[in-house]
Amino acid sequence: MGSLLAVSDLHITYAENREIVAELRPDSPDDWLIVAGDVADQLHDVRWALETLAGRFAKVIWTPGNHELWTVRADPVQSKGVERYNDLVAMCREIGVLTPEDPYVQWTGDGGPVLIAPLFIGYDYTFYAPGCTTKEESLAYARDTGIVCTDEVYLSPDPYESRDDWCRARVALTEARLSECDPAVPLVLVNHYPLVREPTRILRFPEFAQWCGTVLTADWHTRFNTAAMVYGHLHIPRITHHDGVRFQEVSLGYPREWRRHGNPHGILRRVLTAPAHV
Ligand SMILES: [Fe+2]
Ligand SMILES: [Fe+2]
Repeated sequence: MGSLLAVSDLHITYAENREIVAELRPDSPDDWLIVAGDVADQLHDVRWALETLAGRFAKVIWTPGNHELWTVRADPVQSKGVERYNDLVAMCREIGVLTPEDPYVQWTGDGGPVLIAPLFIGYDYTFYAPGCTTKEESLAYARDTGIVCTDEVYLSPDPYESRDDWCRARVALTEARLSECDPAVPLVLVNHYPLVREPTRILRFPEFAQWCGTVLTADWHTRFNTAAMVYGHLHIPRITHHDGVRFQEVSLGYPREWRRHGNPHGILRRVLTAPAHV
């Protein structure tokens, strides 16, 4: 019987990370792999990584990170915003990788049955910087300290007016889908960002939290029957519990980061059967 595994923030733009992906293999041919965003900055790199993994794991489930949604000058694919997201979804369909646009799938292996729900919920600047009570104040705080996420340059919300408008639209449609799920089957909620603010409290620069989620999802893990919440983006791999629900940050991160901690718990994390704190 296979395991449900997860990883995020593969960032294969870095050659050392690309080598890691080239060597990533399941323990069992029945293993499934969740990839919770930030595969790469350019579409052809995202495709290479996901296609490589899809050829090895029984199923690969992807949700976008901010990096896939960037439009960088070097990328031959110059689509922006929603159009870019749609390009990514179309590419995943070609290579047999599931996305937030597909029906949620049931995992019946180790730790199951659970329904795996890949979500695409961005951020809306409501994880305010210290002492701030509006998006404008929070952004001004970040500009003052110089800790501004590069998304402000590369992540277009087109045709939405703003990244927060896009986020609110995704929250509404996702909330409706989750409400339709059978409450008797526990969910594994997968998103690039944590659905609650608490995991961002240990960020070195607290003003960066405004690019890390939204208060609109703060009660999802208790409102919906949630077995586990899998996320990345923070590049701080760890497990925390919120209202008794396990939240698992599964990032690989940049070489300078993983070299420091040396991936003591491996690169692929078990979602449902992991010990409590790794
Ligand atoms: Fe990342
Ligand atoms: Fe990210």
